[in-house]
Amino acid sequence: MASAVRFLSPWRFLRFTRIPGVHLHTTGASMGASVEDFNQAKDQLGKLKKDPGNEVKLKIYALFKQATQGPCNTPKPGMLDFVNKAKWDAWKSLASVSQEEARQQYVDLISSLLAAEGPAVAATPTGSGKAFETLLVNTEDSITTIRLNRPQKKNAITVEMYNELIEALDLAGKDDSVITVITGSGDYYCSGNDLNNFTKIPEGGVQKMAKDAGELLKGYVKAYIDFPKPLIAVVNGPAVGVSVTVLGLFDVIYATESATFHTPFSQLGQSPEGCSSYTFPRIMGHAKASEVLLFNKKLTATQACELGLVTEVFPDSSFQSEVWTRLKAYAKLPPNSLALSKQLIRGVEKEKLYAVNVAEVERLVERWVSDECMQAIMTFFQAKSKL
Ligand code: COA
Repeated sequence: MASAVRFLSPWRFLRFTRIPGVHLHTTGASMGASVEDFNQAKDQLGKLKKDPGNEVKLKIYALFKQATQGPCNTPKPGMLDFVNKAKWDAWKSLASVSQEEARQQYVDLISSLLAAEGPAVAATPTGSGKAFETLLVNTEDSITTIRLNRPQKKNAITVEMYNELIEALDLAGKDDSVITVITGSGDYYCSGNDLNNFTKIPEGGVQKMAKDAGELLKGYVKAYIDFPKPLIAVVNGPAVGVSVTVLGLFDVIYATESATFHTPFSQLGQSPEGCSSYTFPRIMGHAKASEVLLFNKKLTATQACELGLVTEVFPDSSFQSEVWTRLKAYAKLPPNSLALSKQLIRGVEKEKLYAVNVAEVERLVERWVSDECMQAIMTFFQAKSKL
């Protein structure tokens, strides 16, 4: 294929891929990119400054055709018709990939290319100075760091913090950083969902609270599933609940040796989220995942590393210096290559992750209004009040 596409001028080829007047399949795609996202990605294609290379352009072409027309059923061009043969091969290679899946992959690919190009295309400059109430966010040495910043509450995630994390991830995905890091202020990485979130009952009652919380959680987890660049957790201390479960959606996890990983869902009358009901058994096997997710087994950093949840554990004394030295080196790698490789690694299971996220949230919305859950949360606050 490579020899055939050499005959194309890159920008002429790019124009080939924007085929007007096609009819999009619009039903049953609620899990993937919307038609609006797809059209927006198509428009943004023309804003790319750098030539992504013929192989990527063939991929874009093939995904576009698959998304708009379905599998390739046109006659194979003749051997000497190099350009059309290369395009036909690329389209044909998608075989029976669904139109929804192709649309999602198209959007992901364009957004990775845009993210890798930086602010000239993607609008948000380095250190845009966006101030958050519950986070410290800065960009330095091509690394955007999102630091959970409620140390006095062990970085428990309030509703406001969930919303700010969604926004910070969105901005980081579009800024000109090469990698993004999430870490915590103080001695904890994060103590999970702020249990006070359950005590603020709106006018619509507990059902409404649970429904709203479910929508928020779904959007929060989706922000991780969709994150276009390498995402790294620098786990500076104990991690609890949702801060542990979303780790299966990170690319690399570095932990200090005194960090622990705890998901006390059953204890709280709840159920797993963050796609962990899917990612944890894949990462550590069913037997180990069940101990963690069903029976609240708290893992040390070393155990989490042995189970494959954590990439590497560092001594407490040298954790920060060793990790940041390494991250600064990673951030010098070619951004296009990193973003596109991440997409290859993660893209294949994206639809599955969307579906798992929806199913987990549905279950949790039920759990949050259950007596078991209410009782467990009351017990937490009663224990506090007795101290
Ligand atoms: N939700 C709400 N408040 C929390 C919290 C959470 N998830 N985690 C910590 N806090 C608050 C504590 O209530 C306390 O507030 P106070 O100073 O007003 O009393 C403060 O943060 C410090 O926590 P404290 O419990 O005093 O520290 P600790 O070192 O003794 O224990 C934890 C830390 C994280 C083990 C303990 O706070 C805890 O079990 N939190 C709940 C964790 C949890 O169940 N998360 C949800 C998982 S689904």
